[in-house]
Amino acid sequence: MIFARHDILEEIIVSKYAEEINKRRTFAIISHPDAGKTTLTEKFLLYGGAINLAGSVKGKATARHAVSDWMEIEKERGISVTSSVLQFQYDGYCINILDTPGHQDFSEDTYRTLMAADSAVMVIDASKGVEAQTRKLFKVCVMRKIPIFTFINKMDRDANDTFELLDEIEKELGIATCPMNWPIGCGKNFKGVYDRKENCVITYSDTEKGTKEGETQKIHLDEEEKLLQYIGEEQKQTLTDEIELLDGASAEFDLDKVQKGDLTPVFFGSALTNFGVEIFLKYFLEMTTTPLPRKSDIGMIDPVENDFSAFVFKIQANMNKAHRDRIAFMRICSGKFEANMEVKHVQGNKVMRLSQPQQIMASERKILDEAYAGDIIGVFDPGIFSIGDTLCMPKSQFKYEGIPTFAPEHFARVRQLDTMKRKQFVKGITQIAQEGAIQIFQEYNTGMEEIIVGVVGVLQFDVLKYRLENEYNVEIKLENLPYEHIRWITSKEIDLDHINGTSDMKKVKDLKGNPLLLFVNAWSVGMTLERNKGLELSEFGKE
Ligand code: G4P
Repeated sequence: MIFARHDILEEIIVSKYAEEINKRRTFAIISHPDAGKTTLTEKFLLYGGAINLAGSVKGKATARHAVSDWMEIEKERGISVTSSVLQFQYDGYCINILDTPGHQDFSEDTYRTLMAADSAVMVIDASKGVEAQTRKLFKVCVMRKIPIFTFINKMDRDANDTFELLDEIEKELGIATCPMNWPIGCGKNFKGVYDRKENCVITYSDTEKGTKEGETQKIHLDEEEKLLQYIGEEQKQTLTDEIELLDGASAEFDLDKVQKGDLTPVFFGSALTNFGVEIFLKYFLEMTTTPLPRKSDIGMIDPVENDFSAFVFKIQANMNKAHRDRIAFMRICSGKFEANMEVKHVQGNKVMRLSQPQQIMASERKILDEAYAGDIIGVFDPGIFSIGDTLCMPKSQFKYEGIPTFAPEHFARVRQLDTMKRKQFVKGITQIAQEGAIQIFQEYNTGMEEIIVGVVGVLQFDVLKYRLENEYNVEIKLENLPYEHIRWITSKEIDLDHINGTSDMKKVKDLKGNPLLLFVNAWSVGMTLERNKGLELSEFGKE
């Protein structure tokens, strides 16, 4: 009898988690700089009541300061280097937005943030189409097979032809598109969107400064007179023709395909004038997934059926200059987290209490009492965590699949100017590398006084220089190297001393001693593979 009671209690607890967990939607917003990611995020936050004034995330008054600006270098340059997490409630959902820096020069952090998301919103500027940064970030989403939702922004300005925009997404990114709504005109002639599901036109309203979507009218396609009055003969004819074309040519909506990342639902709107944003948010929340199960070395871990577990996806040092701290960001993958509970750090094989768990919304921090699968928490890290580490209950034992190391695209040789400060230099550069902001490589026959640094975005070179100077009191000199392609050697049986490479090839090892090759051009990679039978190379290293 006692057992039966216990079972009932357990079931009640699990189903209580289920309710909280199933409310969670955790996603990242990706875009090329200036496409409107910050503006869209801000409008989402307005709907959720998390902020109450348009422009408080980033506006002219704050001189392009995103809420997530932490480091001095960000302030100096007016860009956001780090990613932050925003949580808010809307319509019964608990939403976690992972903010990814969108400027030209971003780091591996941006990629890693996507590893913690269950879906992605891709913002595209209607007059620019698919741009470089979108392409890069998109690749990571495809690798993870997470659902991608497209918001084509700035319809209040002149835009490219709508069919061409869709064509570009399909061709450039290799994903089928399904427009959920369709724009009527653009720029000065923007009249609103046609909602394909409801078969009606939602009229354009401009409430740039408002906190909610403006007054719109819904005109059913059958209400000919009313529609004609509103959009005029010419635009009505164009709309009719386009709907016909669309119904015949576009992919059919299929939620299963969306959730597998094979089909992207497309929405049109204008984040600035607050049009189409709430419609998008509503559809998006219905279609996107609850926290997804994750792969571990003992199989898939279901978020609802398991007790607490999490993995570290980002480590950030010195977020607060006053307290030289280091914070590990983790994504909770299953169950419930409670402050002061004992957890096991699997890689360190240690049971511990996480100190001061926090939810970090921009520069504000809130101490947490509890959090659920889907949520992101930040904890103080006394230097024990590494990216990819697993935390679980003391009685459990498993590891989540590691986060791949993304290939750096820029390389430089680093020299310290004052050789007396070697200890600080090695400490600083190793710590910054552990955080994942840079990758460091060593040549085979030299020590740590001369090393090669690889980064995903060139801004990271400045960040490195700045941080070594300010946090470790070490001055360095960077000499750019021409390498652009990096390959880890994955074949086990290869004689490293006898690789017959091209003249531009350089052999180095990473922090863990794994051998790899650097090349100036892609042709040399192919040539080296051709010359060395049995040589296997990979673009990704394992953490
Ligand atoms: P990002 O985070 O993707 O980099 O883009 P962000 O939201 O900062 O937007 C970039 C610029 O585009 C901003 O103008 C913003 O006001 C404008 N913008 C965003 N969405 C729309 C839209 O739907 N329509 C129009 N017309 N403009 C839009 P800015 O002048 O560069 O910056 P700010 O001074 O307004 O902050």
